[in-house]
Parts: sequence; C-alpha cells; structure tokens
Amino acid sequence: MMKNPSASPFYMISCLVMLLLLPLPSLLADPDPLQDFCVADLSASTSVNGFLCKPASNVSSDDFFFDGLSKEGNTTNIFGSNVTAANVLSFPGLNTQGSSINRVDFAIGGVNPPHSHPRATETDLVISGQVLIGFVTTGNVYFSKVLTAGQIFVIPRGLVHFQKNVGPGKALIFTTFNSQLPGAAVVPLNLFASTPSIPNDVLTKTFQVGDDVVNSIKSKFVVKLGPYSR
Ligand code: GLV
Ligand code: MN
Repeated sequence: MMKNPSASPFYMISCLVMLLLLPLPSLLADPDPLQDFCVADLSASTSVNGFLCKPASNVSSDDFFFDGLSKEGNTTNIFGSNVTAANVLSFPGLNTQGSSINRVDFAIGGVNPPHSHPRATETDLVISGQVLIGFVTTGNVYFSKVLTAGQIFVIPRGLVHFQKNVGPGKALIFTTFNSQLPGAAVVPLNLFASTPSIPNDVLTKTFQVGDDVVNSIKSKFVVKLGPYSR
C-alpha cells in the first residue's frame, strides 16, 4: 500500500519551515516603533539597532522640525551633484520612525553616481528639470525613465541606481526612504576610493584593464567627496 506523503516527518517539517518564513516578506522596512516618538540622543555612548531616546520631558517641537533641505546644495564637485540628507544623524526626530528624505541638486549635466541603499526602498520625486533615473536588477536588467516636475520613480530596495540631469538647466529632486538611515554604497567610491584600497590586481583582473587605467580612476577620487560618504 502507498504511504500518505503528507504524514511523513519531512513533509511536516517542510510545512512548519514554510509557515515560519511566510511573515518575512512583510518585514521590508525598519522595525515598528514601540512608543510615539524616540528623539535620538546622538551623544549617548550606547546604541542598540538605532539610538537611545532623549528623555520625553526634554523634547520640544523643534525636535520634529528640520530646515536643512531648504537650501540648494553645492554642486561644484566632479559629479556636478550634491546630496543633502535628512536622516537620523542630521534629524534625530526620525529615530525609530522608519523614514528619511534627501534633497539632491544637479548642475547642468550633473550625475548622482551609481549607488545602492542596503536598508531602504527609495522613491524619487522630481521638483524641477529633466532627470534620467535608472536602476539595474540583480539579473542585470536596466530600467529607466526621464522624469519632469511632479513625476516619481521607485528604486527597489538595495538595487544599484543613479540620476542624471539631462535637461538644459539645473535640476532638483527629493528622494524618500523607508529607513531612518538607508546607508549608501557608492559604487565608484567603494571600488576605487576605499580605505585601505582594494589591491590593483583585483581591479585590473575584474575590469580587464591595466594598472594605468585603475591608477587613473583612483586618482580622480583622492579628494573624498563629503556628501557621498553618507
Ligand atoms: C538618490 O539616489 C539618493 O540616494 O538620494
Ligand atoms: Mn539613492
């Protein structure tokens, strides 16, 4: 007589594992807060997956206000772009709220170079100008669009993406994240401006070029670009 496969221990363990894994897709952003707010005490000497809360009695309206995105960023750098970040480090009121926002200014022809955010999905809103926004999937498929004022584009979590000003004047976008500190791994800086450096023979073999090319690229990034090491 055939045995009922659904009675086997292997089948039951597989079902149990599936049941345990099912809720995982809903855990796509920072953990939910356990209180109304938790304004970060950035001076505390300990932190646990975020920052300790400032005592509620010391919290005022100013803790929920940030003026840092009202000014145009300085785009006089090799990329012709500037990212101003309102994340938990600059705006402690965001602590535990699972949210942050950047202002990105572009000079004519400026690019926000390829980078990825390990901890967040990004949504880009164009305020002015014409901006080419693109990302590449883990399967190396490229998606892109040229956007104008009022249009938005979503960058799936963790994927390499960029923005380039393709209009005749300056451009401005705001980017929002479902993390208080999305992190940014900037591809050219990760590869060619790390400390200490990735050995040249790794890069020459990887890119199939000579030392001269690798040294030339490394030399472009000798002066670290503050906003890009966010
Ligand atoms: C844009 O991609 C940003 O990270 O702000
Ligand atoms: Mn980004």
